[in-house]
Amino acid sequence: MNTIDILLLGAGGREHALLKKLAESPRAGKLYVTPGNGGMFQLAEAAPISQDDPQQVASWAAEHSIGLVVVGPEAPLVEGVADAVRAQGIPCFGPNANAARMEGSKEFAKQVMARANVPTAAYKSFTDRAACEAYVRELAGPCVIKADGLAAGKGVIVAQTTDEALAGVAQCFDGAFGDAGKTVVVEEMLEGPECSLLALTDGTTVVPLATSQDHKRAYDGDKGPNTGGMGVYSPVPEHLVSADDLNTMVDVMNRVVAQLKADGITYSGCLYGGFMLTKDGPKVLEFNARFGDPETQVVLPRMHADLVEVFLACDKGTLDASSVLWDDDWAVSVVLASAGYPGSYESGKRITGIDAASQMPGITVYHAGTKLTADGDVLTAGGRVLDVTAVAPTFAQAREQAYAACDLIDFDGKQFRTDIGARAL
Ligand code: AMP
Ligand code: GLY
Repeated sequence: MNTIDILLLGAGGREHALLKKLAESPRAGKLYVTPGNGGMFQLAEAAPISQDDPQQVASWAAEHSIGLVVVGPEAPLVEGVADAVRAQGIPCFGPNANAARMEGSKEFAKQVMARANVPTAAYKSFTDRAACEAYVRELAGPCVIKADGLAAGKGVIVAQTTDEALAGVAQCFDGAFGDAGKTVVVEEMLEGPECSLLALTDGTTVVPLATSQDHKRAYDGDKGPNTGGMGVYSPVPEHLVSADDLNTMVDVMNRVVAQLKADGITYSGCLYGGFMLTKDGPKVLEFNARFGDPETQVVLPRMHADLVEVFLACDKGTLDASSVLWDDDWAVSVVLASAGYPGSYESGKRITGIDAASQMPGITVYHAGTKLTADGDVLTAGGRVLDVTAVAPTFAQAREQAYAACDLIDFDGKQFRTDIGARAL
């Protein structure tokens, strides 16, 4: 079988999980990453380029005869990295900039949803501050304020009162989220448990992946500030997501991809649907143009597929649902974070116990914010440091093993939630 060399962009636990799965493919040749992290450099070589520079990525990939570029995070997609790579005739996993607007512009995503008749929160969009404030006052109650553009997961203010909403509007228009906040979306507040559904697509065929549930708040009991995600499990059991709910969610993914196609936009890559399971059924909170982090860390380990072949098929337009099968196992992933995250935190703390934890049955420790020293020590280098992931035949076992593995790992300031998946038990 002929192998191909692969360049992966990104540096999080998501990318470590993608890299590990790509490395397992018989099609994988040499693997390169940028910017990468301490765990990824054990599997791949560093590419000395910036992931956010489309021309640089595309030229480097061409010079090194790369056969597939995989884009992990959203920013390079919105910048047009996939367009530049494809323009060199190199297959790329991830949507072109035009299609990545599903994440890059909330207003764009809302318009597509309206045309596709997809259930989502009612909204209004504003570029005028006074009009936006007047509307929030008129609502006189809970609402959600969103900066229109990319804000690294921070541009959403869930406001219980008019004062909180006005403060959110002020943050956006005062530039707290840069240009992302020049357009502001005001949404109806939805209530219920959240559920993520990732889907692979080549622009026509949509292959839904397993459901998962992230835990966004920093502390136990869903208290504290929003984070990038503190832990996740998959699949979401039926008492939380009914078969009807799942059908609705899959239908939404299909309808959105079909709508984009009808609008002349081929969406190829991973489409991430974030849903609120309201009493009136699932409604879309947001779409992302890439795999979720930490969702990927529980979805990929349960997936039976040759990820290189599947990613190439997404690019080529030959995706086939039969190429992806699932384990019956359960997966739970607990994020070990630095003290102070999501606020300011210290880096450079030595991490011990990763090898011991990794030797436990069913455990994989994905690196997120880590770096390797010349002596081979692993140091903390970010807010979210490690994703300790367990796969086991029952949910209870997976959860128990994940937490047992967390206890084996130590670093100064280690912080984690002790209730990941408690709701599903
Ligand atoms: P997003 O970055 O759009 O996923 O929003 C971050 C989080 O804000 C979501 O995971 C939800 O917890 C919350 N959120 C977003 N939109 C709404 C909404 N319309 N109603 C209630 N909560 C929301
Ligand atoms: N886990 C949330 C996200 O990837 O956006």
